[in-house]
Amino acid sequence: MTTHRANVTLDGAYRVGPVPRRLFGSFVEHMGRCVYGGIYEPDHPDADEDGFRQDVLDLTRELGVTTVRYPGGNFVSGYDWRDGIGPRADRPTRLDRAWKAIESNEVGTDDFMRWAASAGVAPMLAVNLGTGTVQDACDLVEYCNYPSGTKWSDLRIKNGAHQPHDVRTWCLGNEMDGPWQIGHKTADEYGRIAAETARALRRIDPTLELIACGSSNSTMPSFGSWEATVLSHTHDLVDLVSLHAYYEEKDGDTASFLSSAVDMDTMIRGVIATADSVAARLRSSKRVNLSFDEWNVWHQSRFPGEDALDYSKGRPLIEDNYSLMDAVVVGDLMATLLRHGDRVAIACQAQLVNVIAPIRTERGGLAWKQATFAPFALSARHARGDVLLTAVESDKQHTKRYGDVPILSATATHDPESNEVVMFLVNRSPEDSIHLTARLHDLPSTKILQQAELAGPDMRVINTAAQQEVRIRNVSSLRLCEGTLEGDLPACSWTMVRLSS
Ligand code: AHR
Repeated sequence: MTTHRANVTLDGAYRVGPVPRRLFGSFVEHMGRCVYGGIYEPDHPDADEDGFRQDVLDLTRELGVTTVRYPGGNFVSGYDWRDGIGPRADRPTRLDRAWKAIESNEVGTDDFMRWAASAGVAPMLAVNLGTGTVQDACDLVEYCNYPSGTKWSDLRIKNGAHQPHDVRTWCLGNEMDGPWQIGHKTADEYGRIAAETARALRRIDPTLELIACGSSNSTMPSFGSWEATVLSHTHDLVDLVSLHAYYEEKDGDTASFLSSAVDMDTMIRGVIATADSVAARLRSSKRVNLSFDEWNVWHQSRFPGEDALDYSKGRPLIEDNYSLMDAVVVGDLMATLLRHGDRVAIACQAQLVNVIAPIRTERGGLAWKQATFAPFALSARHARGDVLLTAVESDKQHTKRYGDVPILSATATHDPESNEVVMFLVNRSPEDSIHLTARLHDLPSTKILQQAELAGPDMRVINTAAQQEVRIRNVSSLRLCEGTLEGDLPACSWTMVRLSS
């Protein structure tokens, strides 16, 4: 085992900008057991009168989620939102062609809005631009947001929601570049319908925040050109463009997997460059920001694919068990989003419950925390105030997928209100430690309030309902002396250090 070296410099004068609180978003899709058997299980002992599990709501609040995207995902591209409103007994049962599921429609827009209010999260709804029309999208926005006196707003009131839901943020479809998407479109086809939908929605409410679909992932052959074409149609009509990325360890290549955040960083830079190049072509000073509204670790190679599924009800789907190593990668991805907080305004970890999720449930039983819960929750709780510019000089490790990458990932925030500096440090090496030297200038740095660490001898250990093996430990291996923080970070670890004066 070697000890690598890394130097970090922080200066109170150099800031990226305020921490966008919506980076701590999540995603609830009608998929597998995320909704049915996840947030909603009416015969569970902990369910409220609406059928929502209180234990899941408690964990959602503890996770610190600020915003939740709903109802999909691929699901939305074949969804008729009208099926999910009104008395539950009258709602139709449908085939969900995205995930080959029998959809009872017991949970729909009004139900989700009540759940979101209990969870204390801002809703972010997606409209169907796969099989849906401009009119369907307008009707949904009228149903949700128009006060009263029209067909759809009065129906909402009749269904019990007297006040408008006032949903501010809307996704214009989902992953429309993907051939797997119901109603998949070319970039021009999608750009046109997204533009026309945006134009029509803005006539209902010009202040809505609208998100155009970017690429489904950065390995799509059309990555870059898709964004350029879509934004050439929509640049002046939307506020954000979406990004999606999922990471997994392939062929035992642990070093590349632990360096996944390097790919996320490259993808973010690429989409910013593309969006800004469209702005330049249009001679526009407007900046389209980024919504990273699906990201996570997903062991995709273990999923046979939706074509291999038969129609069924309540089937578990992609319930990945997350390891300590997965949690370290999640912590690094979260920190990468923060470092780009000047352009990434929204991010949603996909998904919230059961489906590649930090929260797991047992039918009729416990709700419990996966290994990935802790880095998300601690980042959401402590990354406050401003993101600082972080200068990192680090030894590199060679990876098959990304070449030579810095072994240390470092991100920091400073909250002028509490006068706390918080550093998020990731050692991406599977076997070597890092000797860290971090120098802080013009920042509170006389005492360490907390050094929380996610590390351990077995990076493949997972949590189960019965045993929470992967958990945060408060340690004290770092020393602080005259504004310099120094010490060793173990291999494959995520560390949060809180400093004050
Ligand atoms: O989050 C799971 C699925 O991944 C979503 O439905 C889709 O948008 C993405 O491909």
